[in-house]
Amino acid sequence: MKPDLQSSSRSHYFTIFLIQTLVAFMLFSYNHISNKHIRNEVSIMTTNCTDSAAPSKPELNFTVLLWTWPFGTKFPLEECPKPFGTKCLLTANRSLYNTANAVVFHHRDVCGSRQQMPQMPRPEGQYWVWFTLESPSHNPNLHFMDKLINLTMSYRSDSDIFTPYGWLERNEAAANYTIPKKSHLVAWLVSNWNPNSRRVKFYNDFKNYILIDVYGQQHLPLARDQTISVISKYKFYLSFENSIHTDYITEKLWSNAFMSGSVPVVLGPPRENYERFIPSDSFIHVDDFSSAKELASYLLELDKNDQKYQEYFKWRSKLKPVKDVSWIVHYCKACVELQTAPSYRTISSLGKWFT
Ligand SMILES: *[C@@H]1O[C@H](CO)[C@@H](O)[C@H](O)[C@H]1NC(C)=O
Ligand SMILES: *[C@@H]1O[C@H](CO)[C@@H](O)[C@H](O)[C@H]1NC(C)=O
Ligand SMILES: *[C@@H]1O[C@H](CO)[C@@H](O)[C@H](O)[C@H]1NC(C)=O
Repeated sequence: MKPDLQSSSRSHYFTIFLIQTLVAFMLFSYNHISNKHIRNEVSIMTTNCTDSAAPSKPELNFTVLLWTWPFGTKFPLEECPKPFGTKCLLTANRSLYNTANAVVFHHRDVCGSRQQMPQMPRPEGQYWVWFTLESPSHNPNLHFMDKLINLTMSYRSDSDIFTPYGWLERNEAAANYTIPKKSHLVAWLVSNWNPNSRRVKFYNDFKNYILIDVYGQQHLPLARDQTISVISKYKFYLSFENSIHTDYITEKLWSNAFMSGSVPVVLGPPRENYERFIPSDSFIHVDDFSSAKELASYLLELDKNDQKYQEYFKWRSKLKPVKDVSWIVHYCKACVELQTAPSYRTISSLGKWFT
Protein backbone atom coordinates (compact mmCIF):
# COMPACT_ATOMS: atom_id res chain seq x y z
CA MET A 1 0.00 0.00 0.00
CA LYS A 2 2.64 2.45 1.10
CA PRO A 3 4.96 2.34 -1.94
CA ASP A 4 1.89 2.78 -4.16
CA LEU A 5 0.85 5.89 -2.32
CA GLN A 6 4.33 7.25 -2.53
CA SER A 7 4.67 6.73 -6.24
CA SER A 8 1.22 8.14 -6.92
CA SER A 9 2.02 11.18 -4.87
CA ARG A 10 5.33 11.44 -6.67
CA SER A 11 3.64 11.46 -10.06
CA HIS A 12 1.13 13.92 -8.64
CA TYR A 13 3.94 16.29 -7.76
CA PHE A 14 5.55 15.67 -11.07
CA THR A 15 2.30 16.67 -12.82
CA ILE A 16 2.08 19.83 -10.71
CA PHE A 17 5.67 20.56 -11.56
CA LEU A 18 4.95 20.13 -15.28
CA ILE A 19 1.93 22.42 -15.09
CA GLN A 20 3.90 25.02 -13.15
CA THR A 21 6.69 24.90 -15.68
CA LEU A 22 4.23 25.28 -18.52
CA VAL A 23 2.40 28.16 -16.87
CA ALA A 24 5.68 29.83 -16.04
CA PHE A 25 6.81 29.44 -19.63
CA MET A 26 3.55 30.88 -20.94
CA LEU A 27 3.71 33.83 -18.57
CA PHE A 28 7.24 34.64 -19.53
CA SER A 29 6.70 34.34 -23.24
CA TYR A 30 3.35 36.17 -23.06
CA ASN A 31 5.26 39.31 -22.51
CA HIS A 32 8.89 39.54 -21.64
CA ILE A 33 8.41 43.03 -20.22
CA SER A 34 11.25 43.68 -17.90
CA ASN A 35 11.84 40.54 -15.90
CA LYS A 36 14.13 42.74 -13.88
CA HIS A 37 11.10 44.50 -12.45
CA ILE A 38 9.82 41.36 -10.80
CA ARG A 39 13.10 39.64 -10.11
CA ASN A 40 12.46 39.62 -6.42
CA GLU A 41 9.07 38.00 -6.63
CA VAL A 42 10.27 35.25 -8.91
CA SER A 43 13.00 34.21 -6.56
CA ILE A 44 10.57 34.03 -3.66
CA MET A 45 8.17 31.93 -5.67
CA THR A 46 10.89 29.50 -6.59
CA THR A 47 11.67 29.00 -2.93
CA ASN A 48 8.04 28.39 -2.19
CA CYS A 49 7.56 25.89 -5.04
CA THR A 50 10.54 23.88 -3.88
CA ASP A 51 9.01 23.70 -0.43
CA SER A 52 5.64 22.45 -1.51
CA ALA A 53 7.05 19.97 -4.01
CA ALA A 54 9.10 18.24 -1.36
CA PRO A 55 6.77 17.50 1.56
CA SER A 56 8.88 14.58 2.75
CA LYS A 57 11.78 16.88 3.64
CA PRO A 58 12.42 17.04 7.38
CA GLU A 59 11.44 20.20 9.21
CA LEU A 60 14.23 22.70 8.88
CA ASN A 61 13.50 24.39 12.15
CA PHE A 62 15.75 27.31 11.39
CA THR A 63 15.98 29.87 14.18
CA VAL A 64 16.56 33.55 13.52
CA LEU A 65 17.10 35.79 16.52
CA LEU A 66 16.21 39.47 16.27
CA TRP A 67 18.87 40.94 18.52
CA THR A 68 16.64 44.01 18.89
CA TRP A 69 13.22 45.02 17.70
CA PRO A 70 13.96 47.44 14.84
CA PHE A 71 13.66 50.97 16.26
CA GLY A 72 11.90 49.31 19.19
CA THR A 73 8.91 48.41 17.03
CA LYS A 74 7.29 45.16 18.14
CA PHE A 75 5.17 42.98 15.88
CA PRO A 76 3.98 39.36 15.95
CA LEU A 77 6.70 36.89 14.93
CA GLU A 78 4.60 33.74 14.90
CA GLU A 79 3.71 33.53 11.27
CA CYS A 80 5.47 34.43 8.07
CA PRO A 81 3.01 35.73 5.49
CA LYS A 82 2.65 33.98 2.17
CA PRO A 83 4.63 33.29 0.04
CA PHE A 84 7.32 32.56 2.62
CA GLY A 85 7.84 29.15 4.12
CA THR A 86 6.62 28.23 7.56
CA LYS A 87 9.80 26.48 8.64
CA CYS A 88 11.26 29.55 10.27
CA LEU A 89 11.35 30.22 13.95
CA LEU A 90 11.70 33.96 14.43
CA THR A 91 12.32 35.06 17.98
CA ALA A 92 13.36 38.13 19.92
CA ASN A 93 14.21 36.09 23.01
CA ARG A 94 17.93 36.39 23.66
CA SER A 95 17.89 33.21 25.75
CA LEU A 96 17.86 31.42 22.40
CA TYR A 97 21.18 32.99 21.39
CA ASN A 98 23.16 29.78 21.79
CA THR A 99 20.88 27.77 19.53
CA ALA A 100 20.02 30.42 16.94
CA ASN A 101 21.21 29.74 13.39
CA ALA A 102 21.42 33.45 12.73
CA VAL A 103 21.26 36.71 14.66
CA VAL A 104 20.04 39.84 12.91
CA PHE A 105 21.44 43.17 14.06
CA HIS A 106 19.40 46.20 13.10
CA HIS A 107 22.18 48.73 12.79
CA ARG A 108 20.51 51.78 14.28
CA ASP A 109 19.72 49.91 17.48
CA VAL A 110 23.26 48.69 18.08
CA CYS A 111 25.51 51.36 16.58
CA GLY A 112 25.99 53.29 19.84
CA SER A 113 28.83 51.04 21.01
CA ARG A 114 30.28 47.56 20.64
CA GLN A 115 28.70 46.79 24.02
CA GLN A 116 25.32 46.65 22.35
CA MET A 117 26.35 43.52 20.43
CA PRO A 118 26.57 40.10 22.15
CA GLN A 119 29.40 39.77 24.64
CA MET A 120 29.31 35.97 24.79
CA PRO A 121 31.20 33.84 22.25
CA ARG A 122 29.53 33.19 18.95
CA PRO A 123 28.23 29.63 18.57
CA GLU A 124 29.88 27.73 15.73
CA GLY A 125 28.18 28.16 12.37
CA GLN A 126 25.94 31.03 13.53
CA TYR A 127 25.51 33.87 11.05
CA TRP A 128 25.60 37.46 12.16
CA VAL A 129 23.47 39.46 9.80
CA TRP A 130 23.73 43.21 9.48
CA PHE A 131 20.40 44.87 8.68
CA THR A 132 19.44 48.39 7.72
CA LEU A 133 16.81 50.12 5.62
CA GLU A 134 18.35 53.54 6.19
CA SER A 135 20.78 55.14 3.78
CA PRO A 136 24.52 55.47 4.53
CA SER A 137 23.88 59.10 5.53
CA HIS A 138 21.88 57.77 8.49
CA ASN A 139 23.96 54.77 9.57
CA PRO A 140 26.77 56.03 11.80
CA ASN A 141 29.63 53.95 13.25
CA LEU A 142 29.80 51.33 10.53
CA HIS A 143 33.35 50.50 11.65
CA PHE A 144 31.98 48.77 14.77
CA MET A 145 30.90 46.02 12.42
CA ASP A 146 34.27 45.37 10.83
CA LYS A 147 35.20 41.67 10.87
CA LEU A 148 32.05 40.75 12.81
CA ILE A 149 29.40 40.43 10.14
CA ASN A 150 28.84 37.43 7.88
CA LEU A 151 25.98 38.65 5.71
CA THR A 152 24.35 41.94 4.76
CA MET A 153 20.64 42.65 4.60
CA SER A 154 19.44 45.95 3.17
CA TYR A 155 17.63 47.84 0.41
CA ARG A 156 20.79 47.64 -1.68
CA SER A 157 20.19 45.04 -4.39
CA ASP A 158 23.70 43.66 -4.01
CA SER A 159 23.09 42.78 -0.36
CA ASP A 160 23.28 39.10 0.55
CA ILE A 161 19.65 39.41 1.58
CA PHE A 162 17.89 42.03 -0.52
CA THR A 163 15.07 43.70 1.41
CA PRO A 164 13.68 46.48 -0.77
CA TYR A 165 10.93 48.85 0.34
CA GLY A 166 8.71 47.44 -2.38
CA TRP A 167 8.61 45.58 -5.67
CA LEU A 168 6.25 44.84 -8.52
CA GLU A 169 4.27 41.70 -9.14
CA ARG A 170 2.74 40.55 -12.36
CA ASN A 171 -1.05 40.80 -12.59
CA GLU A 172 -2.59 37.37 -13.10
CA ALA A 173 -4.87 38.63 -15.86
CA ALA A 174 -4.85 41.85 -17.82
CA ALA A 175 -6.30 44.29 -15.31
CA ASN A 176 -7.95 47.63 -15.90
CA TYR A 177 -6.50 49.89 -13.28
CA THR A 178 -8.85 52.70 -12.27
CA ILE A 179 -7.05 55.96 -11.65
CA PRO A 180 -8.39 57.48 -8.42
CA LYS A 181 -10.47 60.65 -8.86
CA LYS A 182 -8.21 63.69 -8.90
CA SER A 183 -9.11 67.07 -7.43
CA HIS A 184 -5.64 68.41 -6.55
CA LEU A 185 -2.30 68.76 -8.27
CA VAL A 186 0.91 68.17 -6.27
CA ALA A 187 1.41 66.75 -2.77
CA TRP A 188 4.47 66.23 -0.64
CA LEU A 189 4.63 64.58 2.77
CA VAL A 190 7.82 65.38 4.64
CA SER A 191 8.79 64.80 8.26
CA ASN A 192 12.54 65.43 8.28
CA TRP A 193 12.88 69.05 7.15
CA ASN A 194 16.56 69.65 6.58
CA PRO A 195 17.05 73.07 4.94
CA ASN A 196 20.41 71.99 3.51
CA SER A 197 19.10 68.85 1.86
CA ARG A 198 18.82 68.74 -1.88
CA ARG A 199 15.09 68.09 -1.68
CA VAL A 200 14.28 71.15 0.45
CA LYS A 201 16.45 73.37 -1.74
CA PHE A 202 14.70 72.03 -4.81
CA TYR A 203 11.29 72.56 -3.24
CA ASN A 204 12.09 76.18 -2.35
CA ASP A 205 12.67 76.87 -6.01
CA PHE A 206 9.94 74.60 -7.35
CA LYS A 207 7.16 76.17 -5.27
CA ASN A 208 7.56 79.45 -7.15
CA TYR A 209 6.18 77.83 -10.29
CA ILE A 210 3.48 75.41 -9.13
CA LEU A 211 1.15 74.96 -6.17
CA ILE A 212 2.38 72.23 -3.80
CA ASP A 213 0.49 71.05 -0.73
CA VAL A 214 3.05 70.09 1.89
CA TYR A 215 1.99 67.70 4.68
CA GLY A 216 3.85 66.61 7.79
CA GLN A 217 5.37 68.16 10.90
CA GLN A 218 5.17 71.97 10.73
CA HIS A 219 2.95 71.66 7.65
CA LEU A 220 -0.56 70.47 6.89
CA PRO A 221 -1.60 67.72 9.32
CA LEU A 222 -2.05 64.21 7.92
CA ALA A 223 -2.99 61.21 10.06
CA ARG A 224 -1.04 58.07 9.20
CA ASP A 225 -4.13 56.09 8.26
CA GLN A 226 -5.26 58.91 5.97
CA THR A 227 -2.04 59.10 3.97
CA ILE A 228 -3.07 56.95 1.04
CA SER A 229 -6.60 58.33 0.70
CA VAL A 230 -5.46 61.95 0.86
CA ILE A 231 -2.54 61.55 -1.54
CA SER A 232 -4.70 59.64 -4.01
CA LYS A 233 -6.59 62.87 -4.74
CA TYR A 234 -3.42 64.41 -6.13
CA LYS A 235 -2.19 63.91 -9.67
CA PHE A 236 1.45 64.02 -8.60
CA TYR A 237 3.38 63.09 -5.50
CA LEU A 238 6.91 64.25 -4.72
CA SER A 239 8.85 61.08 -3.88
CA PHE A 240 11.89 63.03 -2.72
CA GLU A 241 14.45 60.90 -0.86
CA ASN A 242 16.18 62.37 2.20
CA SER A 243 19.61 61.49 0.75
CA ILE A 244 20.87 60.24 -2.58
CA HIS A 245 22.39 56.76 -2.67
CA THR A 246 22.38 53.76 -5.03
CA ASP A 247 19.12 51.79 -4.77
CA TYR A 248 17.85 54.02 -1.97
CA ILE A 249 14.24 54.16 -3.14
CA THR A 250 11.86 54.12 -0.23
CA GLU A 251 8.21 54.02 0.78
CA LYS A 252 8.00 57.55 -0.61
CA LEU A 253 7.78 55.88 -4.00
CA TRP A 254 6.35 52.45 -3.22
CA SER A 255 3.69 53.37 -0.72
CA ASN A 256 3.00 57.09 -0.79
CA ALA A 257 2.94 57.35 -4.59
CA PHE A 258 2.28 53.91 -6.08
CA MET A 259 -0.22 52.68 -3.49
CA SER A 260 -2.07 56.00 -3.74
CA GLY A 261 -2.29 55.95 -7.51
CA SER A 262 -0.48 59.26 -7.70
CA VAL A 263 2.27 59.72 -10.30
CA PRO A 264 5.65 59.88 -8.55
CA VAL A 265 7.97 62.78 -9.25
CA VAL A 266 11.24 61.35 -7.97
CA LEU A 267 14.37 62.95 -6.57
CA GLY A 268 16.91 60.29 -5.69
CA PRO A 269 19.45 58.14 -7.52
CA PRO A 270 19.66 58.51 -11.33
CA ARG A 271 16.82 57.46 -13.61
CA GLU A 272 18.70 54.29 -14.68
CA ASN A 273 18.75 53.18 -11.08
CA TYR A 274 14.95 53.51 -10.79
CA GLU A 275 14.52 51.68 -14.09
CA ARG A 276 16.15 48.61 -12.63
CA PHE A 277 13.06 48.22 -10.46
CA ILE A 278 10.15 50.04 -12.12
CA PRO A 279 9.09 50.76 -15.72
CA SER A 280 10.48 53.90 -17.32
CA ASP A 281 6.98 55.29 -17.95
CA SER A 282 5.79 54.92 -14.36
CA PHE A 283 7.51 58.01 -12.94
CA ILE A 284 8.85 61.48 -13.65
CA HIS A 285 12.47 62.16 -12.69
CA VAL A 286 13.56 65.59 -11.51
CA ASP A 287 16.88 65.14 -13.34
CA ASP A 288 15.08 64.88 -16.69
CA PHE A 289 14.51 68.63 -16.51
CA SER A 290 17.04 71.40 -16.66
CA SER A 291 15.27 73.42 -13.98
CA ALA A 292 12.47 73.37 -11.42
CA LYS A 293 10.62 75.79 -13.66
CA GLU A 294 10.77 73.42 -16.61
CA LEU A 295 9.52 70.52 -14.48
CA ALA A 296 6.64 72.69 -13.23
CA SER A 297 5.55 73.55 -16.74
CA TYR A 298 5.66 69.87 -17.71
CA LEU A 299 3.36 68.97 -14.80
CA LEU A 300 1.00 71.82 -15.70
CA GLU A 301 0.94 70.58 -19.27
CA LEU A 302 0.04 67.03 -18.10
CA ASP A 303 -2.65 68.54 -15.91
CA LYS A 304 -4.36 69.86 -19.03
CA ASN A 305 -3.84 66.72 -21.09
CA ASP A 306 -5.66 63.72 -19.60
CA GLN A 307 -4.53 61.35 -22.28
CA LYS A 308 -0.90 62.13 -21.73
CA TYR A 309 -1.33 61.93 -17.96
CA GLN A 310 -2.95 58.52 -18.22
CA GLU A 311 0.09 57.13 -20.03
CA TYR A 312 1.79 57.06 -16.63
CA PHE A 313 -0.61 54.29 -15.63
CA LYS A 314 -0.23 52.03 -18.67
CA TRP A 315 2.18 49.69 -16.87
CA ARG A 316 -0.53 48.87 -14.34
CA SER A 317 -2.34 46.56 -16.73
CA LYS A 318 0.55 44.11 -16.36
CA LEU A 319 2.18 44.93 -13.06
CA LYS A 320 1.15 45.97 -9.60
CA PRO A 321 3.07 47.11 -6.51
CA VAL A 322 3.01 44.67 -3.60
CA LYS A 323 1.10 45.68 -0.51
CA ASP A 324 2.34 45.69 3.05
CA VAL A 325 6.07 45.24 2.88
CA SER A 326 6.44 45.40 6.63
CA TRP A 327 9.18 44.40 9.09
CA ILE A 328 7.96 40.82 9.32
CA VAL A 329 8.30 40.40 5.55
CA HIS A 330 11.97 41.38 5.70
CA TYR A 331 12.77 38.97 8.54
CA CYS A 332 10.86 36.11 6.92
CA LYS A 333 12.68 36.68 3.66
CA ALA A 334 15.95 36.61 5.58
CA CYS A 335 15.03 33.34 7.24
CA VAL A 336 14.23 31.68 3.91
CA GLU A 337 17.38 32.93 2.20
CA LEU A 338 19.68 32.18 5.13
CA GLN A 339 18.91 28.52 4.72
CA THR A 340 20.89 28.52 1.49
CA ALA A 341 23.49 31.10 2.51
CA PRO A 342 27.17 30.45 1.83
CA SER A 343 29.06 28.96 4.73
CA TYR A 344 31.80 30.84 6.47
CA ARG A 345 32.55 34.29 5.30
CA THR A 346 33.24 37.55 7.05
CA ILE A 347 32.89 41.10 5.79
CA SER A 348 36.05 42.96 6.67
CA SER A 349 34.71 46.49 6.12
CA LEU A 350 31.04 47.34 5.70
CA GLY A 351 31.90 51.01 5.32
CA LYS A 352 33.83 50.36 2.11
CA TRP A 353 30.75 48.89 0.48
CA PHE A 354 27.87 50.77 2.09
CA THR A 355 28.28 54.28 0.71
C1 LIG B 1 12.87 32.94 26.52
O1 LIG B 1 13.29 31.63 26.34
C2 LIG B 1 13.57 30.94 27.57
C3 LIG B 1 14.22 29.61 27.22
O2 LIG B 1 13.47 28.91 26.27
C4 LIG B 1 12.27 30.82 28.34
O3 LIG B 1 12.52 30.17 29.58
C5 LIG B 1 11.71 32.19 28.60
O4 LIG B 1 10.47 32.11 29.23
C6 LIG B 1 11.57 32.98 27.29
N1 LIG B 1 11.23 34.33 27.60
C7 LIG B 1 10.20 34.95 27.01
C8 LIG B 1 10.00 36.38 27.41
O5 LIG B 1 9.47 34.39 26.22
C1 LIG C 1 -10.65 46.23 -19.66
O1 LIG C 1 -11.25 47.20 -20.47
C2 LIG C 1 -11.41 46.80 -21.82
C3 LIG C 1 -11.89 48.00 -22.63
O2 LIG C 1 -12.83 48.77 -21.88
C4 LIG C 1 -12.35 45.61 -21.87
O3 LIG C 1 -12.51 45.17 -23.19
C5 LIG C 1 -11.75 44.47 -21.03
O4 LIG C 1 -12.66 43.39 -20.97
C6 LIG C 1 -11.44 44.95 -19.62
N1 LIG C 1 -10.70 43.90 -18.92
C7 LIG C 1 -10.93 43.56 -17.66
C8 LIG C 1 -10.06 42.50 -17.09
O5 LIG C 1 -11.81 44.08 -16.97
C1 LIG D 1 31.17 34.78 10.69
O1 LIG D 1 32.23 35.66 10.94
C2 LIG D 1 32.97 35.36 12.11
C3 LIG D 1 33.94 36.51 12.38
O2 LIG D 1 34.94 36.55 11.44
C4 LIG D 1 33.67 34.02 11.89
O3 LIG D 1 34.41 33.68 13.02
C5 LIG D 1 32.61 32.96 11.62
O4 LIG D 1 33.23 31.73 11.31
C6 LIG D 1 31.70 33.37 10.48
N1 LIG D 1 30.58 32.44 10.45
C7 LIG D 1 29.98 32.07 9.32
C8 LIG D 1 28.87 31.11 9.43
O5 LIG D 1 30.30 32.51 8.22
